[in-house]
Amino acid sequence: MTSPRTNPGPAAVVFGLGAALPPCSVSNAQLCRELDTSDEWIRTRTGIRERRIADPGVSTADLAAAAADQALQSCGSSDVQALVLATTTPDHLMPATAPTVAARLGLTGIAAFDVAAVCTGFVYALATAAGLIASGTAQQVLVIGADRMASLPAPDDRTTRPLFADGAGAVVLRSGDDSEAGALGPVVLGSDGTHRDLLLVPHGGHMQMQGPQLFRHAVTRMCAATRQAVQLAGWHIADVDRVVPHQANSRITDAVGRHLAIGTDRRVQTIAHTGNTGAASIPLALAQAAADGTVLPGHRLCLTAFGAGLTWGATTLIWPDLKPAPSPLHDTAKELS
Ligand code: UT7
Repeated sequence: MTSPRTNPGPAAVVFGLGAALPPCSVSNAQLCRELDTSDEWIRTRTGIRERRIADPGVSTADLAAAAADQALQSCGSSDVQALVLATTTPDHLMPATAPTVAARLGLTGIAAFDVAAVCTGFVYALATAAGLIASGTAQQVLVIGADRMASLPAPDDRTTRPLFADGAGAVVLRSGDDSEAGALGPVVLGSDGTHRDLLLVPHGGHMQMQGPQLFRHAVTRMCAATRQAVQLAGWHIADVDRVVPHQANSRITDAVGRHLAIGTDRRVQTIAHTGNTGAASIPLALAQAAADGTVLPGHRLCLTAFGAGLTWGATTLIWPDLKPAPSPLHDTAKELS
């Protein structure tokens, strides 16, 4: 289930960060006009108050390119040799969306491919990029999580539509040393396809979800992955300053926090304003937390994710001193309107 970092090659070090959200916010009250639900039900069962929904003409590549552009600007270097895009909502069945994003960024010619691990996609993409760096295939890699998850539920499905939303987040990784701030620790990855039916989108159909079962797996797997990643980093849970979990439901994050004795002040929680943005969720939460001071340079972070597949993953890093980026919740990219 795990891929601990025993490779003697260079470490992958975070040195750029960016995010993009569509400007259109849809409140629970607005959803209630179309669905048999209530603001109170959505808030108390999920923690979500509003979510950003992209206009129909905005693609996953648009969101990904906006987040990646900000990440490249934040580190002041676009000298990357590979682009790894985690997404469940590629623009086309083929080709992958990553080459389009690379071309949009003026990076035609570099390696570019998609990774599909649903809401764990960003952690899988980090591990893939770290491998490219450790093997010497690339010295700098753009890692993007971008999804238009709001396009997947049926318009009249009150069980899924309030949850899912759109967005993108990105980091730039460079070759470096394990001892540096920003160096990714060992990455824990896992999957269990026997439970694929708990959350799936059939070909040509809409999202189907068995929420309560999925909820239980999410808590169990995220707790185990967090414990394992922290242990492989040589830390204890008490050493973690901030856990940055996939934002699926605030009750899932709360349950993980309770099981691991990580109090609310050490949990990054952005779901109230973003909903579940799939592979974008962790880098978006990181960007928001770095912008509002919830995550500070020197903080020991654990990123932990769970998604359909089932898939799960976690990793650790000490947050580096990056150039401050604008809050994705307040900086609504104009080109996405
Ligand atoms: O990102 C990938 C990972 N995603 C997840 O892990 C999601 C995990 N699951 C969840 O977050 C939660 O299970 C949900 C938010 C999806 C549902 O919350 P729940 O507390 O598990 O509710 P439930 O499915 O057990 O439904 C409770 C009741 C049902 O009514 P009855 O049978 O008790 O009469 C549902 O029909 O709530 C009803 N319900 C709603 N009522 C108002 C379901 N959706 C709604 C709704 N508004 N939107």
